[in-house]
Formats: sequence, structure tokens, C-alpha cells
Amino acid sequence: MKAVCVLKGDGSVTGTIHFEQSDNVVHVTGEINGLTAGEHGFHVHEFGDNTNGCTSAGPHFNPQGKDHAGPGDADRHVGDLGNITAPATGAAKVDIKDSVISLSGPMSILGRTLVVHADPDDFGRGGHELSKTTGNAGARLACGVIGIAK
Ligand code: CU
Ligand code: ZN
Repeated sequence: MKAVCVLKGDGSVTGTIHFEQSDNVVHVTGEINGLTAGEHGFHVHEFGDNTNGCTSAGPHFNPQGKDHAGPGDADRHVGDLGNITAPATGAAKVDIKDSVISLSGPMSILGRTLVVHADPDDFGRGGHELSKTTGNAGARLACGVIGIAK
């Protein structure tokens, strides 16, 4: 099964992300352009609603009611895919394998929104009041709804 997401926002950040699942592993690949150099939080948010831009995507996809964390943590939001690292010039490459998200069933990310943020995700460990909910990753630079790919 395959899915795809086109990222757009109010600024110059754009990207295309592909999802391909085999057994319980989802391979997330693609490129994001227009990011400042460094780490940027990268999450699946609950709603596939972009009526008010990326804001209406709601909080991180969290069907199990857990605290925010990093992608390698046992307890995390399903949507916690960690950070994308952008180089000083050129596109940020995305290449993530994750076995918590799925393209079917109760952990399905289809119809939800993928968001790339302005700031690094602290994986819940930063001590900021937002660390345990958002990783304090800042503004939503670009987003898009994850859909079924051909
Ligand atoms: Cu996010
Ligand atoms: Zn989270």
C-alpha cells in the first residue's frame, strides 16, 4: 500500500513525501525545499482539515492518549516522526522507517495532515511547557493531507 503528501504553506517551504508500507514498516521518503539549515519537527497531526491552513490540522495524531516523545521512544504519539535535518543549501532529504504509523487500521495516517515545523522537536525532553505536547517545534511552515497514492 502507498500514500503521498504534497506539503505547502504560507511561505516558501514545499515538498513531496511518499509512504510505502510492507508488513508493519512504513518507509517515508521524499524531499522538502525552502527550510532553514538544521532540524525541523515532522509530525502527523490528527485532522485532514486545512481549511484554516496548517492550524486546523489540530494536535499530533495520538489515538492512545500518550505524551509527546521521539520516534524511537516506546511511549509516543503515533504521529511523532521526529525531525527532518535540512542542509545549508538544497533540499532536505526524508528517509524514515517507522513501525508505529500505518496505512490501515487504528494507527492509519491516511486522511490526516503531515506538518513540517520551524523549530527542532525536543522529543518531550526540553523542559518547555510545550515539550510534552508538541516538542516545542514552533510554527507550522508547511503541511498537506496524506492521501492514497496510485
Ligand atoms: Cu507537528
Ligand atoms: Zn507528538
